[in-house]
Amino acid sequence: MTAAPGAPLRIALLGTGWIMDFHARAAIEHPAAEPVAAANWREPSLGRFSRSYGIPRTTTDWRELADDPEVDAAVIGTPNALHAEQAIAFLEAGKHVLVEKPMARTVAEADAMVEAASRSGAWLMVAHCFRFHPDVRALRARVEAGELGEIVKTRGYGAHARWGPSGWFTDPELAGGGALLDMGVHAIDTTRYLLGDPQPERVCAAVGARYGDHAVDDDAVLLVSWSNGTNSVIEAGWWQPHLGGLEADTELYGSGGYARVWEVTEPPEGYQHCTQPMYSAQFAEFVGAVAAGRQPRPSGEDGRVVMRVVEQAYASAARFDRGGGKRPVRPGHPSGVPRTPGDRPHQGRR
Ligand SMILES: NC(=O)c1ccc[n+]([C@@H]2O[C@H](COP(=O)([O-])OP(=O)(O)OC[C@H]3O[C@@H](n4cnc5c(N)ncnc54)[C@H](O)[C@@H]3O)[C@@H](O)[C@H]2O)c1
Repeated sequence: MTAAPGAPLRIALLGTGWIMDFHARAAIEHPAAEPVAAANWREPSLGRFSRSYGIPRTTTDWRELADDPEVDAAVIGTPNALHAEQAIAFLEAGKHVLVEKPMARTVAEADAMVEAASRSGAWLMVAHCFRFHPDVRALRARVEAGELGEIVKTRGYGAHARWGPSGWFTDPELAGGGALLDMGVHAIDTTRYLLGDPQPERVCAAVGARYGDHAVDDDAVLLVSWSNGTNSVIEAGWWQPHLGGLEADTELYGSGGYARVWEVTEPPEGYQHCTQPMYSAQFAEFVGAVAAGRQPRPSGEDGRVVMRVVEQAYASAARFDRGGGKRPVRPGHPSGVPRTPGDRPHQGRR
């Protein structure tokens, strides 16, 4: 199941788009890992990717790698619709998996992934990357030390101002949802991490397509009540006219004071919110935990909690929709609308 003691963890990279560049660099720079193979459905980007990073083996059939005894683990960065199928195949073959956020499209898919990990004994980690940002970790340490007292409420968001993704991200079948599933999951997981990983007890939400003519949502506002008594307002968006901060942020209101992860109201020119060190630290947790024989965090269970919040939010929005949103919300689900006739199969950002 795992590389011989002392040997590097042999990694297969699935998908060769935007996020996989970060994972490839992290794998190359990590002394105890080796990116041995890459898979993508399209040859051109697969070829470019493997040449850039010197990855020796490529295939357009990712299943070959799940069956390959020369592969110990997989990093999955494909469209959301593929996450569950790919993760389960690798886990069932005894290989560890780091899967991108959102871990799946639905709680049912997340359940199947968690069950596959528990059956196989291989580790499943979900790439909720903001847990590895030093500023988020610093605020978590202040909360843990009791500096803010009891956290009464939080306000957080993950959103894009004046742009939104296209391609498969707005294809209901491939993405499973819109801004809530794409950006909202960052805010949900960061909030939960800062609070010490409570469970969601109640979720109430309004979710819709308000800024553009997408078949998935581009605006979501959630109220989440957690098992520790904190209430969280969480927002997700694409194409917002304004952010009032960076691409994601969380504010904490405690009985002993207030804190915000990033005290920034206007991002400086050329600012990159997500940089290589955050992804490298995330990758190091995966490799380090596998080597130590312990569960990497955030785990499949952590990812599943985020999916529960998302699913409850979509359900809540459907229940309370009184026609205020131009178009709800989650095609393929009872609350959603069918694919629009103009939808094409997309190729994502690359
Ligand atoms: N943690 C983060 O900060 C972060 C940032 C971006 C993306 N992501 C996540 O990573 C995953 C990939 O996103 P991305 O931005 O790299 O997307 P992308 O569009 O840049 O890349 C997607 C990859 O999947 C392939 N692909 C596209 N459609 C496909 C299909 N129908 N069947 C098989 N393969 C297909 C593409 O060729 C490409 O290699 C998503 O789950 C996304 O949510 C996470």
